[in-house]
Amino acid sequence: MASSLAKKRFLVTGAGGQLGAQLVQELAYRHGCPVIGWTSQNVSGEMRGNHAYRQVDITDRQAVEQAFHEWQPDCVIHCAAVTNVDLCERDREIAKQVNTTSSAWLAELASRGGAKFAFLSSDYVFDGSDGPYDEDARVNPINYYGVTKAAAEQIICEHLPDALILRTTVLYSNGRHNNFLKWVVTQLQMGAEVRAFTDQYGNPTWVDGLARAILDLIALDCQGIYHVAGPDWVNRYTFALQIATAFGLPAARICPVTAEQLPQTAKRPVRGGFRVAKSLALTEHLYSIDESLQWLRGGERA
Ligand SMILES: NC(=O)c1ccc[n+]([C@@H]2O[C@H](COP(=O)([O-])OP(=O)(O)OC[C@H]3O[C@@H](n4cnc5c(N)ncnc54)[C@H](OP(=O)(O)O)[C@@H]3O)[C@@H](O)[C@H]2O)c1
Repeated sequence: MASSLAKKRFLVTGAGGQLGAQLVQELAYRHGCPVIGWTSQNVSGEMRGNHAYRQVDITDRQAVEQAFHEWQPDCVIHCAAVTNVDLCERDREIAKQVNTTSSAWLAELASRGGAKFAFLSSDYVFDGSDGPYDEDARVNPINYYGVTKAAAEQIICEHLPDALILRTTVLYSNGRHNNFLKWVVTQLQMGAEVRAFTDQYGNPTWVDGLARAILDLIALDCQGIYHVAGPDWVNRYTFALQIATAFGLPAARICPVTAEQLPQTAKRPVRGGFRVAKSLALTEHLYSIDESLQWLRGGERA
């Protein structure tokens, strides 16, 4: 599959984020693709071999258009988003701008430039009443983050029929980025308590495997909606216990809680998450929790 990607020029947005950073590394070092990673951070913009990072605020339409035309990508993987679900609830304007409006601008540019467009979405487009969900399940978000992602999906599907909508969930890695695994490990190492929800289900997804799975789907020129996530469907409490076991940390400090006991600003879907058979048939890189934690513990790569 590597060969079909190698001739393409990639643009990855959200390149300083958890998934975007991994995608840039995979594309540059594993596939040898020319790739630009857009970031909101102050970076030099210099090419390092076949890749570079460029500072682009994706809420600045002029900056987005200029940077897009300069690079002329063959494929855009749009990871940038306001991912703090409670922040999206509180600051709806910025959530809508980044997650919906800027996504629409980029889709339009991709369409005009004849570039493939892959958009990262979420299981929070569903209400969580009857998950795990298939790709054709009815969208019905219950928080504003989900509203912004569902709106972006709709605009992209209308204007770019060959776009790839990649819905994922519960990402984790052991690098510098905040995520559930890092939080659980840090809390337990400090001797602190971990309160983990028994009424939030999803598919924990190791970022390294996800990046590879996404590139497999792009290499196959997949179009439409795909649920790309780990195959295990568990609640956060169960996932926290698995993390503690894998890292040899005291599981006794993990306390089960419900949303009623510990309310959050934004409502979360209860039975969220996915059925992932459609993606699993096309990629071998969506790993179980056990496999992923084993690799993370051993420091090995998939
Ligand atoms: N994390 C999850 O569990 C999860 C679950 C479902 C779906 N997703 C989706 O998967 C994608 C990747 O998630 P992630 O965990 O990698 O998210 P992340 O670590 O929060 O990264 C998102 C990145 O978006 C960029 N960004 C935000 N506002 C920007 C702006 N105004 N201008 C330029 N860049 C901006 C930032 O990139 P820089 O740091 O480079 O500035 C930020 O790091 C997102 O679209 C997310 O909605 C994630």
